[in-house]
Amino acid sequence: MHLEGFPQPVTLRDGAHVVIRPLRAIDGSELLEFYRAFPEEERQFLRDDVSSPEWVDRFLKKVDFEEVVSLVAELDGAVVGETTLYRTRYGWTRHVGEIRVAVAHAIRRKGLGTALARSLVKLATNLGIEKMVVQVVESQIAARRTFEKLGFAQEATLRAHVKDVRGMKRDVMVMSNDVSHIWEAMEAMVSDYSPTVE
Ligand SMILES: CC(C)(COP(=O)(O)OP(=O)(O)OC[C@H]1O[C@@H](n2cnc3c(N)ncnc32)[C@H](O)[C@@H]1OP(=O)(O)O)[C@@H](O)C(=O)NCCC(=O)NCCS
Repeated sequence: MHLEGFPQPVTLRDGAHVVIRPLRAIDGSELLEFYRAFPEEERQFLRDDVSSPEWVDRFLKKVDFEEVVSLVAELDGAVVGETTLYRTRYGWTRHVGEIRVAVAHAIRRKGLGTALARSLVKLATNLGIEKMVVQVVESQIAARRTFEKLGFAQEATLRAHVKDVRGMKRDVMVMSNDVSHIWEAMEAMVSDYSPTVE
């Protein structure tokens, strides 16, 4: 898939060079390897059973860059990060996108999570999304901070909404970022522009 601005080179805090690019149909085994390395505790908080080959197959089919957009970060040929945008093209939430992001343990805290989420937020804005949401459990401090840095703020709490690996119910925070002002400013610019007819 070709998207404007990708592949995007990123230099991490330790100097490592990573490339952010759209997921390809041939990335299945790398993606599976990436998610299988996550501890079960973290996988539970993700939206799907990301450690199964069936999920990877289904996911690769779903990624059409219309309703499901996926970017991966590649380092030395391996997938070390992934971020997904889910949206619907019909109905009253068609202006809303939901984001998810994950980074391999070995290279966390070097800025990759922020870089991936930032790239996806920018891409989502370019695709016309006006509001982005992300769901995090209160213990996911890194995820909360990552999205706060990008302008997301807590909008709601879903009480006892998920069960962790021990079966304990946990609250989920819905964080959101309303970027509609960017679109309103662009629309205002266009309507202010009145070309002179010779
Ligand atoms: C959330 C996640 C993607 C962040 O990836 P990352 O590459 O470590 O992110 P960054 O290095 O860009 O860190 C972003 C900010 O998070 C905060 N942060 C990261 N790790 C942290 C930790 N262990 N403790 C406290 N804060 C932390 C920091 O504020 C950091 O910014 P700073 O380094 O400039 O201070 C990663 O931790 C992850 O994959 N977690 C599991 C999956 C998940 O929870 N996804 C979110 C739900 S959608």
